[in-house]
Amino acid sequence: MTERRVLVVGWRAGIGRALESLGIPFAIWHRAPLKNPPAGVHIEVAPFPSTSKTVRDHAQPFVERGPFTHVIAGTEDAVVTASYARRELGARRSKHTTVRRCHDKLFMKDALTKHGVPMTPYVDGNTVRAPSDVIDVLGAPVVVKDRTASGGRGMELVHTSEEAAHSPLKRRIAERFVDAPEVSIESFVARGEVRFENVTEYLQKKHVNGVPAALPEPLRTRCLELSRRVIAALRIEWGITHLEVYLTSEGPLFGEVALRPPGGYIMEAMGLAYDFDAWMAFVSVELDLEFAFPTEAPYRAAAVVLHPGAGTVTAIHGEAEVAADPNVKRLRLKVAPGDAIDPRAGVGADVGYALIRAPDRLALLESIGRTQKTLVFEMARGQDDRARG
Ligand SMILES: Nc1ncnc2c1ncn2[C@@H]1O[C@H](COP(=O)(O)OP(=O)(O)O)[C@@H](O)[C@H]1O
Ligand SMILES: [Mg+2]
Repeated sequence: MTERRVLVVGWRAGIGRALESLGIPFAIWHRAPLKNPPAGVHIEVAPFPSTSKTVRDHAQPFVERGPFTHVIAGTEDAVVTASYARRELGARRSKHTTVRRCHDKLFMKDALTKHGVPMTPYVDGNTVRAPSDVIDVLGAPVVVKDRTASGGRGMELVHTSEEAAHSPLKRRIAERFVDAPEVSIESFVARGEVRFENVTEYLQKKHVNGVPAALPEPLRTRCLELSRRVIAALRIEWGITHLEVYLTSEGPLFGEVALRPPGGYIMEAMGLAYDFDAWMAFVSVELDLEFAFPTEAPYRAAAVVLHPGAGTVTAIHGEAEVAADPNVKRLRLKVAPGDAIDPRAGVGADVGYALIRAPDRLALLESIGRTQKTLVFEMARGQDDRARG
């Protein structure tokens, strides 16, 4: 086996833990200083550019420290940078068109429309002449969002032509609103083949993710078919995909696909439900290493993502009681009384989380309910906080 050396662009602690336990050396490129940097690892703090020339400039410190055999992107904002960095460093290459189509929602939807993938009607914001056109063409309400953002950042729900006039459309995408529950599908792909797949249920959008989803057949199969169709259409050869689907009365509608590990502690929830190390599995497919995937989920798991809204924490109640629930496998609070909390800019912002595992769905839902009722953030909210949410 050739010696592997890895560059991680867009740090996720799970990637570092997996690489460490494999004994594979790595360096980190992150856009901000790390809160808990791993010991003895070279870290460059630099932006994540999205053109080949700027990536070339920023990758120089790593070229000097090379060679690197693999570049792993951990976060959405790092996927394009990582793709260019692979070329700069002579590491295992990804198809750049594939990466772009997994990052830019317009390229993604244009490409998948050609393959007949069902999705809500959308328009390229650059082609809209009058803002009211989006309402006329798509029908209200309309969702306007940045093409390359993630976690719902900067997203707007527009109901009228007047509202549309206040929503910038340049370099953005507008879509007809879909009023339907959502699931995501996580697929581990190696050598062009789907090796493992999971459906995650958004039990409470932005707050609680359940694994595996309790979907009746044939709906579950139809979701997996949709995911496989997208993976094939975009010619994804390796990595993990996180694909979002709306479950409408007409059937599953494609939402978007990402070529990186999901957020919302879905990796941890998958680990608990299927009893495996999802981060190790991810690193294995990235490095083209063998991995024995589980074939079924012996448990039901959920991640409860905590965010009490903007304000100052005055007290936190129920921590010990929640932690004492044998189904609660991990409870992390990142804030304490006195800490100020910003409004939640995107779903990636949280003040902690609980990971819950139970033998069946009913027990899981009970533990989720108890956790949410018992764990109370007492907050002092200023006028600003109330206005900003
Ligand atoms: N057209 C839409 N109809 C209904 N909900 C939407 C629509 N677009 C986005 N959303 C909601 O916002 C969330 C984030 O939007 P998404 O397109 O997934 O972008 P991001 O890259 O920010 O995750 C979705 O999971 C969904 O809940
Ligand atoms: Mg999304």
